[in-house]
Amino acid sequence: MDIRMVDEAGIPDLWTIWVRGLQEHPEAFGASYEWAREVSSEQSQEILRNIQSSGGFILGAFEAGKPVGMLNFNHQQGEKFRHKGDIGAIYVIPEARGRGIAKALIEAALEQIHSINEVEIISLSVNNDNLAAKRVYESCCFMGYGVEPKGLRVNGKDYDLLHMTREIR
Ligand SMILES: CC(C)(COP(=O)(O)OP(=O)(O)OC[C@H]1O[C@@H](n2cnc3c(N)ncnc32)[C@H](O)[C@@H]1OP(=O)(O)O)[C@@H](O)C(=O)NCCC(=O)NCCS
Repeated sequence: MDIRMVDEAGIPDLWTIWVRGLQEHPEAFGASYEWAREVSSEQSQEILRNIQSSGGFILGAFEAGKPVGMLNFNHQQGEKFRHKGDIGAIYVIPEARGRGIAKALIEAALEQIHSINEVEIISLSVNNDNLAAKRVYESCCFMGYGVEPKGLRVNGKDYDLLHMTREIR
């Protein structure tokens, strides 16, 4: 398994698994399948450029050259927020789960983020019913600090969001 930063040439392939993740787990993400499936290759490249322009990145996990997992990192902007960043879009295809890929993606991201000198605090949010994802984040030393009631609404059903954070310095 190989983890690397995804560039513009690689983003359309990764987008394919992202669309699958959104279709199979609508309650796990803020983005919607209906939106993502309409995004063209050029638009996915534009989205990547926007993330990169503020110091963020997208990581992909690959097996035999094919994407099996992903996450993204956004560096918050503005003088008073630049010590913070957010991890999201963490997804591993069902066939590759249970082998440490999500954890390896997060560890690779934290290592990369550590080289951005300003960033000290990483945050993420997770559906409070998503026990698998919560287990992954706890295993990566993220600490839950608050539950937002009804923070996510999917097809008319409300879910609580658990906000988690970790200091990296
Ligand atoms: C959640 C998800 C990313 C986990 O990916 P994964 O590659 O299978 O996770 P890992 O193998 O790296 O597991 C890391 C840790 O979490 C634990 N874990 C993972 N899935 C688990 C599950 N279903 N039940 C209990 N523990 C689980 C592992 O045992 C491991 O614990 P350890 O470090 O103490 O040994 C994957 O199931 C997924 O993509 N789910 C659908 C999308 C989703 O929910 N994304 C998160 C949105 S916030």
